[in-house]
Amino acid sequence: MTKTLLLLPGDGIGPEVTAVARRVAGRLIAQGLALQVEDALFGGAAIDAEGAPISDETIARAKAADAVLMGAVGGPAWVDQPFDNRPEAGLLKLRAAMNVYANLRPARCFAALADASSLKRIFVEGLDIMFVRELTGGVYFGEPRGIETLENGERRGVNTHVYTSSEIRRVARAAFELARTRKNEVVSAEKGNVMEAGLLWREEVQALRDAEYPDIKLSHMLADNMAMQLVKNPRQFDLILTDNLFGDILSDQAAMLTGSLGMLPSAAIGDAGKPGLYEPIHGSAPDIAGRGVANPSAAILSFAMALRYSLGRADLADRVEAAVSAALDAGARTPDLGGTMSTAAMGDAVLAKLG
Ligand code: NAD
Ligand code: IPM
Ligand code: MN
Repeated sequence: MTKTLLLLPGDGIGPEVTAVARRVAGRLIAQGLALQVEDALFGGAAIDAEGAPISDETIARAKAADAVLMGAVGGPAWVDQPFDNRPEAGLLKLRAAMNVYANLRPARCFAALADASSLKRIFVEGLDIMFVRELTGGVYFGEPRGIETLENGERRGVNTHVYTSSEIRRVARAAFELARTRKNEVVSAEKGNVMEAGLLWREEVQALRDAEYPDIKLSHMLADNMAMQLVKNPRQFDLILTDNLFGDILSDQAAMLTGSLGMLPSAAIGDAGKPGLYEPIHGSAPDIAGRGVANPSAAILSFAMALRYSLGRADLADRVEAAVSAALDAGARTPDLGGTMSTAAMGDAVLAKLG
């Protein structure tokens, strides 16, 4: 049966990099993949056209699709929007509506890029870390939240870092299941030394491990120490489980270990059988948008993750990932990787290797 991929190009470099992912999808469709690619407006582009960063109709279409692939949202044009009508608010709304609570962010150093990292080759060669970031809870969503003016004229900004045991356990379960397909090792990061929600995180993750995953080697690390360890000796990690905010920060940090933020894809998944949301971890890159120089690899690799986790075609995911790797081996480089190729030329290089 033909599956549906909803494409949400978004803003800035989002449309530039998803155009390349679309070409990769088109090649596989021409070779027999039963996939229909549809489009919808999202982010600033949707604010401009429809007044809101995501419409109810687009949310309904996302939930009805087999997978959703987005580019990126946000940018200087929309910073004066009311806070809850910004492009980024639309993204949080979509993640919540799709209930995609487990965000897989693989930080892999492709062989050809071992010298593109800001760390020396000996630290990053062969690096292959999987982050499992909680995506629909924590301080991103906790109540109360807002900005208020107090009686004495002071202004107060409030966000609430909150997790329930079931929110922690479902993402920890996703991490343990994934660990069983890797090295049976999980390092969980929080700040349980200063935050009760972090302490609960540690206790619930440990309890689930003890009850149902005794084969998994679990250790806990304070998130500040992990930031340091990721630079000191990143290859000590195989799978990192962490919350929404720490996962956001630590995965951007790990991106640079692989050579560029433009290399890192992600998959956000929820309960079995529900559609996943696939997106590069980078943003709309306003500093380079419109110039046709963005690295499309993260978008292509995000499509590969959609093939693997939502479209039942791990075989094609392997082929797409191998094509990116082979293009890099052949010297294909956008400027973020020290090269001079355009976004489209990088796409051509990957398509040439895809065959
Ligand atoms: P960013 O990720 O957009 O850019 C950070 C730096 O990385 C920039 O120098 C940029 O040029 C570079 N970069 C990012 N992706 C690249 C690529 N594919 N190829 C080459 N270079 C690349 O982060 P930012 O500048 O902090 O944020 C810009 C906007 O994007 C903000 O509005 C932010 O909220 C939004 N954002 C959106 C998402 C998303 O949609 N998932 C993610 C992060 C940030
Ligand atoms: C990401 C982004 C988003 C996040 C923003 C744009 C909402 O930084 O996907 O990494 O913080 O989750
Ligand atoms: Mn981020």
